[in-house]
Amino acid sequence: MSTHDLTGRVIAITGASAGIGKATAIECAKAGMDVVLGARRMDKLAEVADAVRQLGRQAVAVECDVVNIEDNEKLVKGAVDTFGKLDVIMANAGHGLNRTVEATSDADLREIFEVNFFGTMHTVRTAMPVFRSQETGGHVLITSSCLSRFSLPRHGAYGATKAAQTQMARSMRLELEGDGIPVSVIHPITTVTEFFDVSAQISGVDRSGIPKHAPSLFVQPAERVARAVVKCIRKPVPEVWTSHIVRTVAGVMVMAPWFHDLVVRKQAAHD
Ligand SMILES: NC(=O)c1ccc[n+]([C@@H]2O[C@H](COP(=O)([O-])OP(=O)(O)OC[C@H]3O[C@@H](n4cnc5c(N)ncnc54)[C@H](OP(=O)(O)O)[C@@H]3O)[C@@H](O)[C@H]2O)c1
Repeated sequence: MSTHDLTGRVIAITGASAGIGKATAIECAKAGMDVVLGARRMDKLAEVADAVRQLGRQAVAVECDVVNIEDNEKLVKGAVDTFGKLDVIMANAGHGLNRTVEATSDADLREIFEVNFFGTMHTVRTAMPVFRSQETGGHVLITSSCLSRFSLPRHGAYGATKAAQTQMARSMRLELEGDGIPVSVIHPITTVTEFFDVSAQISGVDRSGIPKHAPSLFVQPAERVARAVVKCIRKPVPEVWTSHIVRTVAGVMVMAPWFHDLVVRKQAAHD
């Protein structure tokens, strides 16, 4: 796969008002890309758009709740109407849930799947007709998680949404082979964003900040993920990991459930 010059390329990002999505928008602008920003909080999107413009690139902010198909259509339309094209879609919006499996209701499960899984599907499917209509195709990016590969106590529902995203992406990648539309899955490890505070708020638990079970070696800034995403846009790869150690350990944990339980039990005990 050749390396792309990103100048003038257009990316649409969901969950662009904070964290990984925001950092990726800024990193894409630094690489010469124009961006379409989607999220529910327009005041936050306006700040990200300003940061992009200060880097000399164009930004369009679209109010987008990924649960609504029409909002995803507005996001993609924002790219086509403003720039005449869309080169990359990044389905990144998502949240966590801090709750035991036993205490997780069907309503909890449906809500988190609506945002993390169905939201991703809406975003990606909406971009596909545009990609297919362009000679240059397009690139699908999906923000999953290292928790698509292994699990933590109290994060089973979240991990299930991330595993579901990854499986769909893997099928899609093979289905689109030869169509000029690569599909890449991003597997961040613990990343310093609003994620854990939002998750605690949604879950009604009295804790905030990065979980104690995450050793500092495995905690990264959002900019680290963003740089890896831009590298992947330049030269598409199937999966993006920002920690080779976590990737390797996760691989072994998939093969050996006893090893999974040993490692996770040891870490989670510190939480
Ligand atoms: N932080 C981590 O440790 C970590 C690790 C692995 C994977 N991830 C994944 O990375 C992605 C980004 O998370 P983050 O860490 O950057 O968290 P974050 O700082 O909380 O950002 C989440 C983003 O998603 C948006 N969002 C949430 N629900 C939405 C909805 N229904 N419609 C549209 N946008 C919505 C939020 O914007 P609004 O509230 O303005 O809508 C925000 O921009 C998520 O998919 C998450 O699962 C995070």
